[in-house]
Amino acid sequence: MNKNDYEMTVHEYDVIVVGAGGSGLRATLGMATEGLKTACITKVFPTRSHTVAAQGGMSAALGNMGEDDWRWHMYDTIKGSDWLGDQDAIEYMCREAIPSVIELEHYGVPFSRTEAGKIYQRPFGGMTTHYGDGTAQRTCAAADRTGHSILHTLYQQSLKYKAEFFIEYFAIDLVMNDGKCTGVVAIDLASGKLHLFKGHVTLLATGGYGRAYFSATSAHTCTGDGSGMAQRAGIPLQDMEFTQFHPTGIYGAGCLITEGSRGEGGYLTNSDGERFMERYAPNAKDLASRDVVSRSMTIEINEGRGVGKDKDHIELHLEHLGKDVINEKLPGIAESARIFAGVDVTKAPIPVIPTVHYNMGGIPTNYFGEVVIPKNEKEETIVPGLMAIGETACVSVHGANRLGSNSLLDLIVFGRAAAKQASKLVKTGVKHPDSNKESLDKIISRLDKTRYSSGTHNPAQLRSKLQKENQKSVAVFRTEETLEEGRKNIHSIYKDFSDINLNDNSLKWNTELLETLELENLITQSIVSVESAYNRKESRGAHARDDFPDRNDKEWLKHTIASIDDSGIVDICYRRVILTTLTDEVEAVPPKKRVY
Ligand code: FUM
Repeated sequence: MNKNDYEMTVHEYDVIVVGAGGSGLRATLGMATEGLKTACITKVFPTRSHTVAAQGGMSAALGNMGEDDWRWHMYDTIKGSDWLGDQDAIEYMCREAIPSVIELEHYGVPFSRTEAGKIYQRPFGGMTTHYGDGTAQRTCAAADRTGHSILHTLYQQSLKYKAEFFIEYFAIDLVMNDGKCTGVVAIDLASGKLHLFKGHVTLLATGGYGRAYFSATSAHTCTGDGSGMAQRAGIPLQDMEFTQFHPTGIYGAGCLITEGSRGEGGYLTNSDGERFMERYAPNAKDLASRDVVSRSMTIEINEGRGVGKDKDHIELHLEHLGKDVINEKLPGIAESARIFAGVDVTKAPIPVIPTVHYNMGGIPTNYFGEVVIPKNEKEETIVPGLMAIGETACVSVHGANRLGSNSLLDLIVFGRAAAKQASKLVKTGVKHPDSNKESLDKIISRLDKTRYSSGTHNPAQLRSKLQKENQKSVAVFRTEETLEEGRKNIHSIYKDFSDINLNDNSLKWNTELLETLELENLITQSIVSVESAYNRKESRGAHARDDFPDRNDKEWLKHTIASIDDSGIVDICYRRVILTTLTDEVEAVPPKKRVY
């Protein structure tokens, strides 16, 4: 095929969902049941989306295993967010958690059960009762395969309601017309043909960009494609300095060992065999929130109390739980530990290390899932036709640090909310406008530029360089010096990207082309992430600056909004944190010091 000589198949739908993980599928199902003509575009088969790897569960104050209240859940989430979460959105999420999980049960999710036949719930980090006094059992689990169970159920239900799936289609760019989104262009990976999907609403549900790091629990597909497309459409990203490290990734392999393993009674030790979390978090211990546990582990390693020949990891003990508990509650992680660490968890500890797990930042939205662009600190405008949910979005319910099991919750609650909002915004069958030629030309010329690159840099090597740089410079602990180094090197990777070389310019299943398009998404997000981290001169949640060790509410109780231009220059402004509630059924939680 000659340069620029593309045929484009045009599809018209009421709504287009990009991504078929937990949030994408929940939205797809909701939109289809609302009677909207719904297409879901996904670069992997839906049940292979990264949500399949979510193990421990989904939080909701059902109170099946002891007293609970959604207001306590809301308090924990605000505190866990280190007060950077928007309290109206958090109220919405924690309140809607309860009907959302019951709906999932009715759709057929095979949750584990209590003796009384209710949904089984386990303790998770930072989840308390009575505003911090007791430990809540709030995380609804299907053994340690909760994400897997949810994905399969939602996919089957979506098919039942006649949603249409375009599987192994990779979305390249949003079609914009005078600030309004009118659809998306995607490539069918198998045939190499281009498709233009017109939608009155396009919903991005493409997940995080964990693969910007060398060691991540995220699937290799987590390359932030939705946020990359948003950046190219001129939409800034919010709070990108906040990257969560999960305390227990398998050392060397990065695979997740669920926090549910500590919820079931597992604990961490250093090279002296000491349960060191008792020193760092005397109350919550191993179930302190993730930022706290990851930092404590890193300090133990940095101070020479790591385990192993290189003293560079920590041990997670489950041996004392016994075979019955492990087989019933944690079968998946027993298998992962056997395959990826060669460990029989009933006999020996698992070697673990803090591993990149989640991006708190993303595309700014309101709690209906509509994308917003801040006008100034107090006001924002809605981007017509564009919505975003799940890890690609920043609602912001997780603020500076997400609590474990609030992610599956976020996916489901906001997938459901977005479907409801779309059904209000879109009247089925309305005629689509012509697509903006300038926008389409820009998309094709970017594709061609990448496809026919004949410079000097190999994209796979550049990706590896980026992953190592983020791992080193934008790590659990940051300083002016490491971040300065990171900025310099990541900007240089951006520059090298304009001089890459592709060996293969065919279109059918061209994985080199696909991975290069993904790499561009990873790079532009890494730039705003390192710039936002450099800019925020305080420590809050997952952003721990050794040179500014304290949280500074006076100057930094605000969201970062960062945009990038075509030459890689980042512009930063701010957005207010919403410290008021949605209703008067609950009180706002004013910022205070976190105690563990
Ligand atoms: O540890 C886990 O099972 C992960 C849960 C989460 O990130 O929410």
